[in-house]
Amino acid sequence: MKKIAVFGAGYVGLITALGFAKLGNRVYSVDKDKGKIEKLLRGEPPFYEPGLDELLEEVRRTGLISFHTDGREAVKEADIIFICVGTPPLPDGRADLSQVEAVARFIAENMQEFKIIVEKSTVPVRTSFWIKRTISLYNRRKVDFEVASNPEFLREGSAIHDFFNPERIVIGVESERVGKVLSDLYRGFSCPVLVTDINTAEIIKHASNSFLAMKISFINMISDLCEKTGADVDMVARGMGLDSRIGEKFLKAGVGYGGSCFPKDVKAFYRIAEEHGLDFSLLKEVDRINNKRASRFVAKIKKALWNLKAKKIAVFGLAFKPNTDDVREAPSLRIIKLLLEEGAEVSAYDPKAMENAAKVLKGIEYASSPYEAASGSNAIALVTEWDEFKNLDWSRIASLMETPIVFDGRNFLDGRRLAELGFEYYPIGKPAVVRNEG
Ligand code: UGA
Repeated sequence: MKKIAVFGAGYVGLITALGFAKLGNRVYSVDKDKGKIEKLLRGEPPFYEPGLDELLEEVRRTGLISFHTDGREAVKEADIIFICVGTPPLPDGRADLSQVEAVARFIAENMQEFKIIVEKSTVPVRTSFWIKRTISLYNRRKVDFEVASNPEFLREGSAIHDFFNPERIVIGVESERVGKVLSDLYRGFSCPVLVTDINTAEIIKHASNSFLAMKISFINMISDLCEKTGADVDMVARGMGLDSRIGEKFLKAGVGYGGSCFPKDVKAFYRIAEEHGLDFSLLKEVDRINNKRASRFVAKIKKALWNLKAKKIAVFGLAFKPNTDDVREAPSLRIIKLLLEEGAEVSAYDPKAMENAAKVLKGIEYASSPYEAASGSNAIALVTEWDEFKNLDWSRIASLMETPIVFDGRNFLDGRRLAELGFEYYPIGKPAVVRNEG
């Protein structure tokens, strides 16, 4: 059993804290957000994530986790301190590392004996150098410490599963001894453990996210070409993906990637390359292609509906992906903004993300069910592929709509069945099923 402090109780921090506690370690979870810690102390998850309720309950019962807004006890008690605070984007795309710096300084001012300090937040390469320098500057008692990097690869929506079933563990260290201590935390996991130097570990994380984003933008461009030529992007992706050198994952065309990671990490990664005198414009294109997805989707809607003014569009899905209530950088937000600019009325429904969306998006109707959203609408724009949407009574929806038209931004629904029910159906990157083509 190790004593572990985790600074930051967001997606990565909270899942890491609960995960290590479930593995039998004593964990101190620290976040400066009082509201979040109060919720956790009451046993309420601060965000929606499948299985989080149960994991929180289970771990709290073991007594192996405590939650704090003041990190002093955590620093004093823990042998290993994970930094999992936010690294949001600055206006120029670089990562804002001030929260990482603040935690590093706090640790330096409060540690009294040897600590291993591990960055787990997604950070640009050489952040560990700055963490080390910050700690050295504020570490007046000259306490011994070592910095390491242990990037996290979990996905929102399947975060708990991903924590316990990773495909690899990456540990960046300066000494074999710390490499061994950190590897031991993951004893019992069956995946490869890659122990590297710290810069390498930091680059692995950014490179992985950027590469996945690149796959998505690549297939999205292919989908545009498919639309122009009458080809089928899903079959193209399948045909490509059967080559194990390519792989079929992350080749789903759609309205673009969102979330708190890909958009930010792609920008931060090309900025860091720039800072080192390199032109990583490949990633600029990845970002640019992604930024155009929303307007392309809205243009398609406009082309089919002729005028959008005073037309009612039902938006199905607001979260940036299913199984989360997170709307950060969600394609839905851009799409709705463009629809409103065109004079359309928007009625939106999402199983989990409406509360978060309402904080940042006004001027639309938030419906209490997909049926209410669709009622009297001229078209449905499916933006997030929640399972719930597959199992709706689509013939009832057709009867509720003014004109039964579906724009499927995730190629998620059964277009042929919808067509049988009388819908016009517009997928991404494959032929639409249109009535009265003229
Ligand atoms: C991503 C990575 O997948 C994780 O490995 C990483 O740990 C995480 O970022 C992070 O850095 O914290 P996440 O953003 O939670 O995870 O979700 P993804 O499943 O990767 O989806 C990201 C976006 O890409 C979503 O908007 C999704 O709809 C979109 N996407 C994904 C596509 O448009 N097409 C695809 O084929 C796959």
